[in-house]
Amino acid sequence: MASVDGFIGVFDSGVGGISVLRELVGLLPHEDFVFFGDSAHNPYGERGVGELRELSGGIVDSFLAEGAKAVVIACNTATSAAAAQLRLEHPSLPIVGVEPALKPATEHDPHDRILVMATPVTLRLDKFHRLAREFGSGSEVIAVPCVGLAHRIEQGDLDAPDLLELIEGLVGEYAGAVDSVVLGCTHYPFVARQIRQVLGDVPLFDGGAGTARRLRSLLSEASLLSPSKGKGRVELRSSLRGPGVLERYEEFFRMKA
Ligand code: DGL
Repeated sequence: MASVDGFIGVFDSGVGGISVLRELVGLLPHEDFVFFGDSAHNPYGERGVGELRELSGGIVDSFLAEGAKAVVIACNTATSAAAAQLRLEHPSLPIVGVEPALKPATEHDPHDRILVMATPVTLRLDKFHRLAREFGSGSEVIAVPCVGLAHRIEQGDLDAPDLLELIEGLVGEYAGAVDSVVLGCTHYPFVARQIRQVLGDVPLFDGGAGTARRLRSLLSEASLLSPSKGKGRVELRSSLRGPGVLERYEEFFRMKA
């Protein structure tokens, strides 16, 4: 049974989910968070749905075994592939996913042409097609599967020229030709500056803040908000062993967006 004293488990295929974690900690500073980056299996966005469900299920089970009171899937790809199944398996657990922020992009003017950058799996699965049908009918939605981008961000060294070249190759043809960009992968907010360098000064939308608000309202509905007045604990963990891994996570956590 979930307790107000439990922690909130947050996971992604690696450092990307830290962009969501920062929003969560900002909105809910009194909560305890355990972040798990599954960097050993990155990139999720180029794996099969069955495997993603298995990986996500294992992570949620271990959070629950340690007393998590809620889970945030800080990954568009894992949300699309596994959120529905996880909710069926854990009906009383608050589970919040993240989805491409197409709705806010369509509410922003102008919104004639919206570029969506996301992983191949996110763009292939139903969730995105449903979103596009629900909110994208008044816009031209250009969906670009950004193969290799999350994995490259995972390596760090974000100012290196090869990263800019990769972005240029993926979306450079849309420079000056779109009204806004949806960052449909939680890794991408960390290269917002580089994306603007390629595409021009366009508004960028990501799902982090909406996810934090959704978590707060689910916790409040379930009377699970922490009564503590002090600052909560934030613990970073990774499936990847080796020197420097958690230091890199810390760096992303402190990075200026
Ligand atoms: N950060 C994840 C997402 O939001 C997945 C990136 C990946 O591992 O491919 O989709």
